[in-house]
Amino acid sequence: MKQIVTTSTGDVDVLKVQAQPDPKPGDGEVLIRVKAAGLNFADILSRQGLYPDSPRKPCVMGYEVSGVVDQLGEGVAQELLGTPVVAMTRFGGQSDCVVVKAMQMFEKPQRLTFEQAAAIPVNYLTAYALIVVLGSLHEGESILIHNAGGGVGLAALEIAKQIGAVTYGTASPSKHEFLKARGLDHPIDYRNQDWSEVLKDLTRGRGVDLILDPIGGAHWKKSYAALRHTGRLGMFGVSAASATGVRGKVKMLTAAIQMPRFHPLGLLNKNRGVFGLNLGHMWHEPEKVATWMKAILRGVEEGWINPHVDRAFRFEEAGAAHQYLEQRKNIGKVVLVP
Ligand SMILES: NC(=O)c1ccc[n+]([C@@H]2O[C@H](COP(=O)([O-])OP(=O)(O)OC[C@H]3O[C@@H](n4cnc5c(N)ncnc54)[C@H](OP(=O)(O)O)[C@@H]3O)[C@@H](O)[C@H]2O)c1
Repeated sequence: MKQIVTTSTGDVDVLKVQAQPDPKPGDGEVLIRVKAAGLNFADILSRQGLYPDSPRKPCVMGYEVSGVVDQLGEGVAQELLGTPVVAMTRFGGQSDCVVVKAMQMFEKPQRLTFEQAAAIPVNYLTAYALIVVLGSLHEGESILIHNAGGGVGLAALEIAKQIGAVTYGTASPSKHEFLKARGLDHPIDYRNQDWSEVLKDLTRGRGVDLILDPIGGAHWKKSYAALRHTGRLGMFGVSAASATGVRGKVKMLTAAIQMPRFHPLGLLNKNRGVFGLNLGHMWHEPEKVATWMKAILRGVEEGWINPHVDRAFRFEEAGAAHQYLEQRKNIGKVVLVP
């Protein structure tokens, strides 16, 4: 099999395509021939040496794939052979074949391409957990989605629109037209303006009911201050630290020092909630995640979930794919194809 290996910590030249013997599925497992694998911001942070959950290097990153079931282990239903599927992988997904537990995969919706299907698990499960499960967003409430033009951001926008919320989103200005066409009510240019002032004007000083913040550090404090009464802040990433080498380490340390501390009495008196999410720490709850995934796949069937794949890069172009995200060029998902 062919895999994208992060050979060590560093710049994109540490990414190499390497050959390995094919794995064999064990009991309750299947082997999938991969058609597309998702690229996530975590893969970049891992390459930069800033992702605590990263496997030890050299490693193969990749949390999600789409493909076709090609071999079955013991105890797996025979009719699954040849089925097009989408699956979650606990690393190792950026490979042209993977072995996964049968319960980690789902039938690929027919109306999606393999590339679109590979864009589903991480982005949509994250957005679903943040908005529906932990954030409890309701019709008529308001949500601020930071980095609304990114992979998780666009997924969050679809879910929030379906709920019937008023949507605010920060994004680089080049993405605003696209976001408006996808239904974002209020795009905010956070690169050239203070987004919190703009939000204050737009909400007549009240703030919003739910904020999704993957930036981290001092930014969480600023987001917290932008909540309305009964508002909730979902914290789920520290992209503020993204950089290669010593700069990345310094930025991560700065982000850690600047993180807010929430006092129970402050939360109580302001009627606010804060929560965190790390989807990568949900592997011991497969039934819960499967329920979320089924709700998302129902959304695909009903037509209101439409994953947007910005670009597909070949495995050999993995470095360019990382740079595309790091340079903020992506709108929605970037996938890797063998
Ligand atoms: N905790 C979890 O379970 C979980 C799961 C998935 C993702 N995440 C986090 O969610 C965030 C989004 O992930 P994603 O995979 O969907 O990626 P993404 O949003 O597609 O990532 C790239 C986009 O992020 C924005 N961005 C903000 N700060 C940036 C920086 N310092 N460097 C580069 N881009 C930056 C840029 O868009 P604009 O400039 O247009 O805003 C860029 O286009 C990441 O922080 C990731 O770690 C967390």
